[in-house]
Amino acid sequence: MSDTLTIIDNRTGKRYEVPIEYGTYPTYGAAIPTSDLRKIKVSDDDFGLLGYDPAFNNTASCKSAITHIDGERGILRYRGYPIEDLAANSSFLEVAYLIVHGELPTADALETWSWDILHHSIVHENIKKFMDGFRYDAHPMGILISTVAALSTFYPESKNIHDEAVRHEQMHRLIAKMPTIAALAYRHSEGYPYTYPDNDLSYCGNFLRMMFKMTERNYKPDPILEKVLDVVFILHVDHEQNCSANAMRSVGSSFPDPYVSIAAAAAGLYGPLHGGANEQVLRMLHEIGHIDHVPAYIKKVKNGDFRLMGFGHRVYKNYDPRARILKEMTPQVLDVTGKSPLLEIAVELERIALEDEYFIDRNLYPNVDFYSGIIYQAMGFPADMFSVLFAIPRTPGWLAQWAEMLEDPDQKIARPRQVYIGEDERAYVPVDKRG
Ligand code: ACO
Repeated sequence: MSDTLTIIDNRTGKRYEVPIEYGTYPTYGAAIPTSDLRKIKVSDDDFGLLGYDPAFNNTASCKSAITHIDGERGILRYRGYPIEDLAANSSFLEVAYLIVHGELPTADALETWSWDILHHSIVHENIKKFMDGFRYDAHPMGILISTVAALSTFYPESKNIHDEAVRHEQMHRLIAKMPTIAALAYRHSEGYPYTYPDNDLSYCGNFLRMMFKMTERNYKPDPILEKVLDVVFILHVDHEQNCSANAMRSVGSSFPDPYVSIAAAAAGLYGPLHGGANEQVLRMLHEIGHIDHVPAYIKKVKNGDFRLMGFGHRVYKNYDPRARILKEMTPQVLDVTGKSPLLEIAVELERIALEDEYFIDRNLYPNVDFYSGIIYQAMGFPADMFSVLFAIPRTPGWLAQWAEMLEDPDQKIARPRQVYIGEDERAYVPVDKRG
């Protein structure tokens, strides 16, 4: 057996050998270098064969050691550790370290890392002025994306992306400041005074305080909600080459500073087919309004009127393991915050959909967004904030993808090819001669 692929071009009768490269195990991915297809030509002046793969359905754009997903079996691992183990035993900051550095930290390394993140949480006072420029009803994700891009102007040294120490400092800043910007965006939209970070609290405890502290002198986040948020954040840290990670790598490949690349990644996340889906799930559950209306709603989905938000995934053709953990945690949250009628509708929607041929045939299962919106709403976050709540914990994932891309000798500026299907060369017609 040889690890090659033989291709016969039936236009010319020529045979070509192309090597097959594997991931950690052959079942973790096997690929051919598609640039080798360029030698397949019908004549010397022929450009050579390209792979045509809109939306990268079957193209590996990189080799990565960060996250492993087996969508058929519903497996998700960060740096080899199953998501279930990390959710049960770890903390968000520890997982952020793992994803960025590749290994779980020692106790000392975790202490230093946590200190570095917690002590970079303040933003420059000018950011508050910048914030005030947004309209009162500005979507917080629009504010987050623009403000994180604006951070680029505060840290001009961040352009030195090939200097590892500089790179790490920006990583601390970005992971630290995303919750601060998120809370500022929320408070701006509500007209509340801004709350400064409190470095004595945990990452999530501080975020909850910056979001929800009003006139209490000693705001204390509820420990159960603080812990649940930490686990929800762990579940969102990375998800290999999705739309936003791909934006991070693609924009980062022209070597701008990481603030603008993170802004691009967050913009990719904003759309309703990606991180904006949980906001849509909540709107959908409100629209359904009562469990009795679920069958009629499912009928409309099957008619193709609209999609069931929070269902389906490009990679998972099984239950998303993150959705399972979120579903199990939802009652803990509701014990603190009170019953949610939306949960009843969601459970009924899931029950009916999972028994329906339409969804079974297409392998459509709940994804991470199906339950996260219910948890967030119960905790008091408005739907507008949901994609922002996704961007905060995804930041270390984007940064790990970016650093891996920068250090990968195979990578260059991202530049896909196209198959041109437009007009051939034609003569310019002056405007008075056009019919
Ligand atoms: N509801 C109803 N039908 C669906 C859904 C859905 N949520 N998702 C896919 N389908 C159907 C499609 O209509 C299509 O049916 P057809 O073969 O009869 O035409 C079939 O399933 C395959 O759909 P594709 O669009 O080819 O699947 P793709 O892998 O490209 O899409 C996506 C994945 C975008 C996530 C899709 O499932 C979707 O739109 N889901 C709803 C939005 C959502 O929840 N997004 C969050 C994803 S998770 C994340 O980003 C964190």
